Amino acid sequence: MTASDASPIRVHAPGRVNLIGEHTDYTGGLAFPMAIDRGITLTATTQPDWIQLTSDGGPGTLHLALPFERDPSTIEPSWGSFVASVAKQMRATAGIRGHLTSDIPAGAGLSSSAALECAIGLALGFDGATLELAQMARNAEHTATGVPTGIMDQYCISAATTGHATLIDCHHLTAEQVPIPDDIDIVVQFIAHRTLLGSAYADRVAECARAQALLGPLRTANLDDVATIDDDTIRRRARHVVTENERVRQFATALRRADYPELGRLMTESHASLRDDYDTSTDQMDTAVAKLNSTKGVFGARMTGGGFGGCAVAICEPGTLSSGWPVRASAGAHLVS
Ligand code: GLA
Repeated sequence: MTASDASPIRVHAPGRVNLIGEHTDYTGGLAFPMAIDRGITLTATTQPDWIQLTSDGGPGTLHLALPFERDPSTIEPSWGSFVASVAKQMRATAGIRGHLTSDIPAGAGLSSSAALECAIGLALGFDGATLELAQMARNAEHTATGVPTGIMDQYCISAATTGHATLIDCHHLTAEQVPIPDDIDIVVQFIAHRTLLGSAYADRVAECARAQALLGPLRTANLDDVATIDDDTIRRRARHVVTENERVRQFATALRRADYPELGRLMTESHASLRDDYDTSTDQMDTAVAKLNSTKGVFGARMTGGGFGGCAVAICEPGTLSSGWPVRASAGAHLVS
């Protein structure tokens, strides 16, 4: 490539809100996220040998010589570690020069990092299937952060279609698009900044691995199996995963029938399970969710994402909530031009 080959690229990747199916993906369970109409847009031109990027969302300019083979987690500015990690995964040799804009708040549990990974992947010429983009981006997330996250965020962000939520089977790695009716509002409320780095997220992954060492895969375990676990903490973690997988199945059925009170009931139960069995909520989040659940017109609400802060999501009658962001089911990561 020569400088005269520079061609313009515009890529958009959405954030996501998880409707239900929390902390199930890394045990091969079911998750039901939805890509939202907030996201990251990269405007760039191609250039040989280098990535040079600035971002609305963080300080500094990222300069990366390609191919990039070092440890991405040490890259400055720190937001560039996700970019470097994708470049490393892809063994990219053709670069880009451009600017990132975002209207997903970072640290809110709406998957800004997964959106960034998918956007950079497409900008660097990734041309595989949506699942392959998701797998590459998830590997990049692991290398950048060291947090052993599941596939939900990247798979939703790569595979989503407008007007649908994405029902993901994290064992079979399938993504089914389920229509979101237009006579309900889905509202996201930002509660508190959080990061999964240094959080108890990795502990939860390890606790589930201990449960699976006793029971086999949690995705096929039942509550009788769970009751045989002696250790109270491991039993509660397993109970959350087993009951949450079942809630996802029931939620998908209720969504197809437009049974909104049932959606709300399942969301409220999901929150209670994350609070009481999985210990990933906070007092501030519990208070916010309780307030949402007692608001007339709200069918149900829960924490969404990895937890320890982040956002709440509510499903309600149109126009019920004046605070928060009403979000619309949006398309996955794509080249805009
Ligand atoms: C984070 C991770 C996901 C998933 C959720 C919890 O968003 O990136 O893989 O585990 O937490 O459901």
